[in-house]
Amino acid sequence: MGTAANALPADLELDARADRGSARPWWRTAVVYEVYLRSFADADGDGLGDVEGLRSRLTHLADLGVDALWVTPWYPSPMADGGYDVADYRDVDPRFGTLADVDALLADAHDLGLRVVVDLVANHTSAEHPWFRAALAAGPGSPERARYFFRDGRGGGAEPPNDWISAFGGSAWTRVREPDGAPGQWYLHLFAPEQPDLDWGHPDVQEEFDGIVRFWLDRGVDGIRVDAAPAMAKAPDLPDAGHPPGASFDAGSWVGNPHWDVDEVHEVLRRWRRIGDEYAGDRLFVSEAVVNGPERLSRYVRPDELHTTFNFDWLKAPWDARALRAVVDGTLAALAPVGAPATWVLSSHDETRHVTRFGRAHSGAAVMGFDAAAPTDLALGLRRARAAALLTLALPGGAYLYQGEELGLPEVEDLPEEVLQDPTWERSGHTARGRDGCRVPLPWSGDRPPFGFSPDGVVPWLPQPPGWRDLTVAVQREDPSSTLSLYRAALRLRRDLPDDDALRWLDLGADVLAFDRGPWRCVVNLSRHPLPLTGLGRPVLTSEQVGGELPPDTAAWLVTG
Ligand code: NOJ
Repeated sequence: MGTAANALPADLELDARADRGSARPWWRTAVVYEVYLRSFADADGDGLGDVEGLRSRLTHLADLGVDALWVTPWYPSPMADGGYDVADYRDVDPRFGTLADVDALLADAHDLGLRVVVDLVANHTSAEHPWFRAALAAGPGSPERARYFFRDGRGGGAEPPNDWISAFGGSAWTRVREPDGAPGQWYLHLFAPEQPDLDWGHPDVQEEFDGIVRFWLDRGVDGIRVDAAPAMAKAPDLPDAGHPPGASFDAGSWVGNPHWDVDEVHEVLRRWRRIGDEYAGDRLFVSEAVVNGPERLSRYVRPDELHTTFNFDWLKAPWDARALRAVVDGTLAALAPVGAPATWVLSSHDETRHVTRFGRAHSGAAVMGFDAAAPTDLALGLRRARAAALLTLALPGGAYLYQGEELGLPEVEDLPEEVLQDPTWERSGHTARGRDGCRVPLPWSGDRPPFGFSPDGVVPWLPQPPGWRDLTVAVQREDPSSTLSLYRAALRLRRDLPDDDALRWLDLGADVLAFDRGPWRCVVNLSRHPLPLTGLGRPVLTSEQVGGELPPDTAAWLVTG
């Protein structure tokens, strides 16, 4: 047997836009591509990605074969956290374009059969939002301050009101100067100080966001990604969390935490679901929710709440058969009772790219880029990443791809300190470099930066490694063994997978993951030994060129029967 990597047999070739004839909503099995807007494509030549740049590259996504794109925030923002600090929820930052550009993007995407999901950052506003500016100006006890969490400090006012911590390091409280110039109250920010938390118990907040949700649904977006969903409720009276000194923001391990995954958050989600249900077209709500285990996660996708939620346990799992299988089983078992599909995620704009992660001795992801650089075998990481792509795309449910993973991009770990922009870098006292290394602008074409990301001669907002000349879209399109070709083949074949959630494990040894979905079989060899493929079925796609055996760190899709 000699199976070419990425080979797509003619009898299995499908029309990429074929309608599967399923009555199930699109989002149950959708592959959604995360567009990190600042780094996707720059049309206006300012070194920063923009909506027109994205629109000009939509055919890449249609060719790739994804169903939808999720676009990170494009709203007017001071960019203290890359746009997750929103100053106006109903407009587009001039650096990214205009509302008319967004309308044109939606129209073109829909013409290509691509759905569009926008990002809603509702736990916090920008400190430049008119509400927060009014709150600062109005002073203690004012109705303007009641939309946020302003409190007097402890210890005569000089200490933060409680022990809560910021996801970017340090205390979650910042003290303000009152209008008379004196040091005054403190306000809460679970992220950067430029991102004050809203009080979701306040009716103004609820009503304002009802209007914002409608604004984007009326404009024709197909879905909304809910940023930092577990943050949107706090325990009454804001009690101490009991964090030990120097604690990190390890939300996946917290139980009964007063500032994360508090049950009242579900009232907000139900409110939004009711609004979404008024609209035709299977609009999607998907949450970002790092919580303690699949059972807590399943609460976000109960029938009257959100439709799907990212499965970050998948992203955090190491390259280990038992660990990965435990996540699959735990996820499917927890989601079945609420009837929600899984959404598998390997990378995002917040985490070390998985080519790099899988090349390290410790291959699970840390929290928000807080893992220090470690020795990395990038060839091994890429090999595993390609196998992981076939594993991920064979599982029941949907998947989220992060831009650049279809090119096999590694984390850029040697960005000069002076270009780092992630607030993590400053907040950690320069001990954690943060997330910029996964946000380096995409290489599209050409043999030197900006690699078609910006017009020639423009310097992108983060420098691209010269070695990315071999990883451009243009180069990989021509190479049938490239990672891009592998993703294209997998996404086309995937459309023929059964669209139910059934999965049957096979026992091919402790370090092998193997399962059937209907006539489709996925086999991933995580052991140190080759695995004979004889008798396992007809290989239709493999993550590397293989013969009659599946080498370590490779995956195969086969058809049985
Ligand atoms: C999650 C987003 O993905 C991340 O980039 C951002 O920093 C935080 N939420 C705060 O909005």
